[in-house]
Amino acid sequence: MLSCIAYTLLLAGTAQAALLPRQSNSTGYSVKTPPLDTPWTYKVGTNPWPEYPRPLLERSQWQNLNGVWRHQNESSLDALNSPPFNQTLQNAVLVPSCLESGLSGVQGEYMLYSWYSTSFRVPSDWSGDKVLLNFGAVDYEATVYVNGQKAGFNRGGYFAFTLDITSLLSSGTNELLVFAHDPTDSDPYVIPIGKQTLRPSHIFYRPCSGIWQSVWIESAPSNYITELNLNADMDGKVSGTISTSANASTSVEISVTPQGDAGSGSTHQVSTGDFSFTVDSPQLWSPDSPTLYDITIKLGQDEVKSYTGFRTVSRGVIDGVERPLLNGEFIFFMGTLDQGYWPDGLYTPPNYEAMTYDLKTLKQIGYNGLRKHIKVETDLFYKACDEMGLLLIQDMPSLRPLQDRTLSNCTVETIVPDASQQAEFQRQLEVLIKQHRNYPSIIAWVIYNEGWGQITDPYYPEFGLTDLVRELDPTRLIDATTGWYDHGAGDFSDNHHYANPQCGAPFYSIQSSPYDPSRIGIQGEFGGIGHNVSIEHLWNVQEAIDTINQTYEIDTTLAAWNYRGHLLLSELEDQTKMYACSGGIWTQTTDVEGEVNGMLTYDRRFLRPDLKQWNADISALYDAAASRSNSSVKLF
Ligand SMILES: *[C@@H]1O[C@H](CO)[C@@H](O)[C@H](O)[C@H]1NC(C)=O
Ligand SMILES: *[C@@H]1O[C@H](CO)[C@@H](O)[C@H](O)[C@H]1NC(C)=O
Ligand SMILES: *[C@@H]1O[C@H](CO)[C@@H](O)[C@H](O)[C@H]1NC(C)=O
Ligand SMILES: *[C@@H]1O[C@H](CO)[C@@H](O)[C@H](O)[C@H]1NC(C)=O
Ligand SMILES: *[C@@H]1O[C@H](CO)[C@@H](O)[C@H](O)[C@H]1NC(C)=O
Ligand SMILES: *[C@@H]1O[C@H](CO)[C@@H](O)[C@H](O)[C@H]1NC(C)=O
Ligand SMILES: *[C@@H]1O[C@H](CO)[C@@H](O)[C@H](O)[C@H]1NC(C)=O
Ligand SMILES: *[C@@H]1O[C@H](CO)[C@@H](O)[C@H](O)[C@H]1NC(C)=O
Repeated sequence: MLSCIAYTLLLAGTAQAALLPRQSNSTGYSVKTPPLDTPWTYKVGTNPWPEYPRPLLERSQWQNLNGVWRHQNESSLDALNSPPFNQTLQNAVLVPSCLESGLSGVQGEYMLYSWYSTSFRVPSDWSGDKVLLNFGAVDYEATVYVNGQKAGFNRGGYFAFTLDITSLLSSGTNELLVFAHDPTDSDPYVIPIGKQTLRPSHIFYRPCSGIWQSVWIESAPSNYITELNLNADMDGKVSGTISTSANASTSVEISVTPQGDAGSGSTHQVSTGDFSFTVDSPQLWSPDSPTLYDITIKLGQDEVKSYTGFRTVSRGVIDGVERPLLNGEFIFFMGTLDQGYWPDGLYTPPNYEAMTYDLKTLKQIGYNGLRKHIKVETDLFYKACDEMGLLLIQDMPSLRPLQDRTLSNCTVETIVPDASQQAEFQRQLEVLIKQHRNYPSIIAWVIYNEGWGQITDPYYPEFGLTDLVRELDPTRLIDATTGWYDHGAGDFSDNHHYANPQCGAPFYSIQSSPYDPSRIGIQGEFGGIGHNVSIEHLWNVQEAIDTINQTYEIDTTLAAWNYRGHLLLSELEDQTKMYACSGGIWTQTTDVEGEVNGMLTYDRRFLRPDLKQWNADISALYDAAASRSNSSVKLF
């Protein structure tokens, strides 16, 4: 155990090291040519994701550990019994990246068990008593060692975790060793995986294993803020909870200042634990005017920066129809199904510019949001949506979908979670909400997608899970089941249908449920029309190319694809004017592997929509919705 004084002395001895930025040893690393590249693949270099990774709880003293690390593939969990301390692991790897991606420099398959190593020095000018080690996300389990001692363990491939490594540090170079175990959909595991599969086919894609978001260290005082839950509403009320490492009541100063020239700020004295105060007449956050407020929180020696947006999400009856409301008004949600996959980085976008290119393209087409589909992104993605005024429907990554298992007596059963797997799904759902409930752009949570991993025993777990999510976050809407098995839970009556929509309408397909007027009618998925492209824009993997013919509809020319887009959007417009449609989600933002139904191709080099036409068709949806916001218009 290192005392604060000893630690300060220890830092004084390493002054020399801190003058230089951290340089990783890139010996042996090069990008492996992926089956398809993007305009950014060869710009990533060996200092990926240099941006500050946690904008909602930002401390000034931090150091990025991203870069080239060493890696070693293993064949079983037994490898954990003999950690390779002080050894040079077999190959170079780029952190963060998926081990299956070209950018990793590994581009392996079946990367179920891996050792990673790197070394770092703690900057000498850090003033805090503690050094915290942060991981943005490691898929699926991470066991972490610092200088030969276990620093911690985390389970869950989509979520951040922080380890206090102060007592494990030495005065010179520190060795960091991480074991990553990622079973994806191998038996007997039933874990949140989203679209990942060890056997990719059409709508299911190559998996992502290992450290796929930023790794970094920061300095914090002995009593520091561990968790900030903060919500700001349309009436100016700011409320939430501040948790600290000392877990004792302490006074806290919170300043709230509008970004840009939106007025002056204010300072408020509160205490740790639950707090609440009011800001006079704030400028509200909305897609048309995404005003954000900077927040500074001072607690003793700890000072963190954050931000928020003042807005209220609710539901209400407008002209006899259940509607989603933003700041008290009906808002029509028009977004894409957003998979967040990259041919060069898989789960990890090559860089910030690439990540926001998708978002800018969606805005340019006229969308006001997106459904983040059974994946969770880096914090910087949510911040970009907050800044750009994009509304988000955030899915929980689903458990193994649509898979069967053949028992020894030859009975074929559908794989569903057992009680402990279901409990772990629930625990990770809670983590999803707790780590993301501060982002103004998120307006709704999705628990189950198309019945994937959804237990259909008549206790219907989505009811209990909806209550749980509501308790953790009463400020947003809940889409308990998007598509398939709807037993009445949550705020939405959500239909999936390809290619044409059936949104809040008196017609529905046999796989989904009829529109339920006691909840909000939305089209959780539609469109999905395909248009094949030449090989230089395709994921050049024969098994994927062979599945292109599983697309619901292929339009043989771009003109035909745009014409079909026009017809399908016009149907959604009719359903908005005539019936009870409150939003639509078009499948999808980009092509992925064997799917050729994107706004953009998988390499992001080719945009399908005729912008003029799509702008007009999507504007017509907002106009149709606005016409239904008027209580003097009669219902059909
Ligand atoms: C960089 O890494 C390689 C491979 O582990 C090693 O042989 C070499 O000595 C390292 N170079 C430095 C400067 O540490
Ligand atoms: C990694 O190890 C697994 C066995 O666990 C093996 O199937 C796979 O081919 C290996 N991959 C690489 C890139 O070495
Ligand atoms: C690694 O090497 C250093 C320097 O020789 C030594 O102090 C340390 O004990 C070694 N760690 C382990 C776990 O053997
Ligand atoms: C913090 O204190 C509260 C109240 O004394 C207690 O219930 C809780 O378990 C403590 N939490 C931690 C992390 O120590
Ligand atoms: C096969 O085994 C399963 C699990 O033991 C059992 O539930 C099922 O009834 C058996 N089926 C037949 C046809 O025996
Ligand atoms: C799709 O293409 C593959 C590969 O060419 C072929 O084996 C398969 O039969 C085709 N399926 C359909 C539905 O046409
Ligand atoms: C799509 O295009 C690729 C590349 O030109 C071709 O190999 C494949 O057969 C096409 N598939 C379909 C279904 O058109
Ligand atoms: C509401 O409907 C009335 C009657 O149709 C019309 O005169 C008015 O312009 C509408 N207002 C809006 C905001 O659409």
